[in-house]
Amino acid sequence: MIQFVTIVVGLAWGDEGKGKIVHALAPEYDMVCRWNGGANAGHTIYIDGKKYKTHLVPSGIFSGKKCIIGPGCVVNVDKFLDEISYLRSAGFDTSLVKVSPKAHIITEAHVRYDNYYLKEKLGTTGNGIAPCYSDKMMRRGVQAKNALPKEFLWDGQLSGRILCEGAQSVWLDIDHGTYPYVTSSSTLPYSACSLGFNHKDIGRVIGVAKIYDTKSGVDPEFPDELWGQELFDRIIEEGQEFGTTTGRKRKVNWLFLPKLVKAINLCGCDRVIINKCDVLEKIGHYRLYDEGSLIEYGSLEEMKNYIQKVLFEKTKITDVVFSSSKDGI
Ligand code: IMO
Ligand code: MG
Repeated sequence: MIQFVTIVVGLAWGDEGKGKIVHALAPEYDMVCRWNGGANAGHTIYIDGKKYKTHLVPSGIFSGKKCIIGPGCVVNVDKFLDEISYLRSAGFDTSLVKVSPKAHIITEAHVRYDNYYLKEKLGTTGNGIAPCYSDKMMRRGVQAKNALPKEFLWDGQLSGRILCEGAQSVWLDIDHGTYPYVTSSSTLPYSACSLGFNHKDIGRVIGVAKIYDTKSGVDPEFPDELWGQELFDRIIEEGQEFGTTTGRKRKVNWLFLPKLVKAINLCGCDRVIINKCDVLEKIGHYRLYDEGSLIEYGSLEEMKNYIQKVLFEKTKITDVVFSSSKDGI
């Protein structure tokens, strides 16, 4: 029986540190599940100072938890098996990883189409995500049950305490993001129900944000003219804002607070974690956009107090946690 479901969701354009939060929470759960996307995600985890990257396998693998890749995900078989070998040779128990028989398979043709027609125009990661979801919707896709070794197929049972690991984020959502500069899946918490539980099972939604905004790939609503400003270059260096999946330098901007408020309300978050506060401390500038202007604060404390006040006023969250790169959460 399902006891409790927690959903971790990204509140911006991806790369907020969802993997790190899932890794910190995983010991309290029985299963860690991905509900959307594929290897376009890139989650970085540090264990005893060693860096691990995953693209498809949920971050629960690092805590020895059962890891599920749900029916709403898309799987490139070669990449999946490569990731399994990488994790196995690093000493993790990959027999815990199971894929829904209903997940869809990304073919070579999907990858070719994405790279040829979409990558430059839309700034996709080139993983074949959009063409694969298109074929799924056209009902001519290939499902995992017909393509993956049996040992990896999930029996569909969810039980105990379930932790759901979001991939991509609110502003990359197919319905709520800046279409067409979005990904092709539903990134919001309601979509996690596709794993096989209902909304009443959801106990907690934890939103993850960063204290500044970043975007990898194209998005006309994410201003370009600021690109290259000296302070943003320093944020990129200090925050290591390079794509985990593509290696691309991310675009940076100051936090746009009204968008964060909107994302929290869309997701119904109970708690919000704001990562990478130490990066602003390192560059010594504390700025955000709110009420139509760019506001500068004298200290990180002042900026945090302002963010907390606005979030408590304009959303239903009861808890904001400010976190630094070195913190466990
Ligand atoms: P995580 O889970 C950041 C972006 C791409 C592109 C758009 C569409 O690490 O936060 P796609 O290949 O999905 O068709 O690309 O979405 N994108 C991400 N950006 N983090 C991600 O995942 C992303 N997954 C996709 O850069 O703009
Ligand atoms: Mg990423």
